[in-house]
Amino acid sequence: MGIPASLGHDLKLPVIAAPMFLVSGPDLVVGCCNAGVIGTFPSLNQRTTEGYCEWLNEIRARLGPDAAAFGVNHIVHPTNARLKADLAVTIEHKVPLVITSLGANADIVEAVHSYGGVIFHDVTTARHARSATKTGVDGLILVANGAGGHGGAVNPFALYNEVRQFFDGTIILSGCLSTGGDVATARMLGADFAYMGTRFITTDESLASAEYKEMIIRSVAADITYTPAVSGMLANFMTASLIAHNVDPHQNSVHQPNIGDEAKAWKTIWSAGQGVGTVHDVLSVRDLVARLRSQHDEAVATFFSTSRE
Ligand SMILES: Cc1cc2nc3c(=O)[nH]c(=O)nc-3n(C[C@H](O)[C@H](O)[C@H](O)COP(=O)(O)O)c2cc1C
Repeated sequence: MGIPASLGHDLKLPVIAAPMFLVSGPDLVVGCCNAGVIGTFPSLNQRTTEGYCEWLNEIRARLGPDAAAFGVNHIVHPTNARLKADLAVTIEHKVPLVITSLGANADIVEAVHSYGGVIFHDVTTARHARSATKTGVDGLILVANGAGGHGGAVNPFALYNEVRQFFDGTIILSGCLSTGGDVATARMLGADFAYMGTRFITTDESLASAEYKEMIIRSVAADITYTPAVSGMLANFMTASLIAHNVDPHQNSVHQPNIGDEAKAWKTIWSAGQGVGTVHDVLSVRDLVARLRSQHDEAVATFFSTSRE
């Protein structure tokens, strides 16, 4: 299927800046879209549904005439008490791209399609991918091993190749994609979009603190721990951040850090993917996208020049 027509306009590189809890806000979304890649955020990054609605108004007002599309992430899970109200706002505002996590739901797919929106669902296994296809989603985000947040455990080649055998919709590859060369590689594999989280944390526009950004710059893949200790679900965190909050990086059981609810845990214990080893600076989204584009074009040119020899 490739890139849905409604998302292809003014797209300068097939990249989606992934939604990140407590990291993505209007500045990051607007920066991405105005630079020509798709910007997204979790609706829960605003404390209330009214606040979420205000962010949508702000984003629309700040998008330039040549901006790429933007998207919103909803957590489809019984613990998300805001889901119904936030979805109503998404539908009312006709958000161009909706990304669902945890639960794929045919009613939500139908509601998004009813106003002409596109809906992608994120999965970490081929089994979940197969059941999501039954809901009619337009695309599947394959969250492979090493990805920031609740990353998967499956190798990206294995996951992509398995899912492609039964799904011909849009495929978005996620996990450790940090450079323009990585974007080119994802496309070469057959993915329609690269989904990049960690690389966008160290931008001027992200909501992450300076200390969080510095820790990412200092880290390499070996500094990332995949653990259920923080929230009960396996996720990737920077080991130094776990240790700083007395969470043993080697324990496999759920640790109950004395810091209240999960939202608070994610605020103090910092997540990042194994792609940190190629993140060396803090820069504006505009400069990052320009760099990704030139790295991408160089990788493609090098591939074609060497493959003809
Ligand atoms: C700090 C952080 C917060 C995240 N929060 C969310 C979230 O709220 N919803 C979601 O669907 N994915 C979330 N993710 C996962 C990303 O959307 C994306 O799948 C992942 O970052 C891609 O891997 P990468 O970080 O290696 O590029 C988060 C990732 C990070 C690093």
